Amino acid sequence: MHRLVFRLPKMDERPAPIVIVVLGPPGAGKGTQSSMLADLLRVPHISIGALLRSHARSDSEVGLRLRAMMASGQLVPDTLVLDVLATRINEPDCARGLILDGFPRTLGQAELLERGLLKSPFYANNLRHNFVALHLRVQKSTIVGRLSGRRICSRCNATYHLESQPPRVSGECDFDGSALTVREDDRKTTVLKRLRLYEQETAPILSHYTEKASLLEVDGEHPKENIAQEIVTAMRSMLRISTAGDKDVQSTLEDHL
Ligand code: AP5
Repeated sequence: MHRLVFRLPKMDERPAPIVIVVLGPPGAGKGTQSSMLADLLRVPHISIGALLRSHARSDSEVGLRLRAMMASGQLVPDTLVLDVLATRINEPDCARGLILDGFPRTLGQAELLERGLLKSPFYANNLRHNFVALHLRVQKSTIVGRLSGRRICSRCNATYHLESQPPRVSGECDFDGSALTVREDDRKTTVLKRLRLYEQETAPILSHYTEKASLLEVDGEHPKENIAQEIVTAMRSMLRISTAGDKDVQSTLEDHL
């Protein structure tokens, strides 16, 4: 069951762009749930980790530094993260809102989000009615199992799991047939380091959003389609959004099975 800490909007207010930040430890299912929600709400899923990984592929000095930091499970400096984020959220597809997966990751970043994007004229109207911090709760033992079995498409970044979401052909992406790879930071020692960093730096954000009455807590241990259904049900009442006319919840979930 989710725990809902949110103020409901008045019904007669004009809808403003939706901003959803997805929080949770490594392997909680942030990317998996963000991608399903993005399809359903027709807003982009912005994964900061994926954006940074694509920059890290460059052989420039910045790319090499980035690759080393990410492979060892460190946080990337704010200046670089903000640069990458600002470029992405200025693209036109963010006009209806966005799902931020992996940002904020520190209290400092949460404050930057509030002083920057959320204070901008575009988002400021009715923001408290259209902002949700979604927390996916999972246990450490689950995380280690999920990340050791995760495989990523080397071309399109689609995510698989050897047991819970295997590709149709072993080792190949269902969408483009490219080779599936293991993320460099999914080695057990690096996962444990990322988890420690999450506890130190990111977990304190949860009480920040509880105080602001915008936190939706969901048990991330269930099958992913059940979690998605629970999130959608909660968000429909929190944000007074209708997904009817957009894609149907069930068919969206089926697309992701
Ligand atoms: P990032 O890519 O964001 O990594 P993360 O937060 O550690 O999260 P993950 O991608 O590992 O897991 P997830 O929660 O998305 O789980 P997923 O859905 O894939 O960031 C990587 C790095 O970038 C950071 O370490 C840092 O260096 C840098 N960075 C990023 N943002 C930053 C920031 N703001 N500031 C500074 N640095 C930043 O699922 C995991 C696996 O489980 C998959 O195989 C999936 O198929 C499976 N699965 C998912 N849900 C379920 C379920 N319900 N049941 C069974 N299996 C499931």
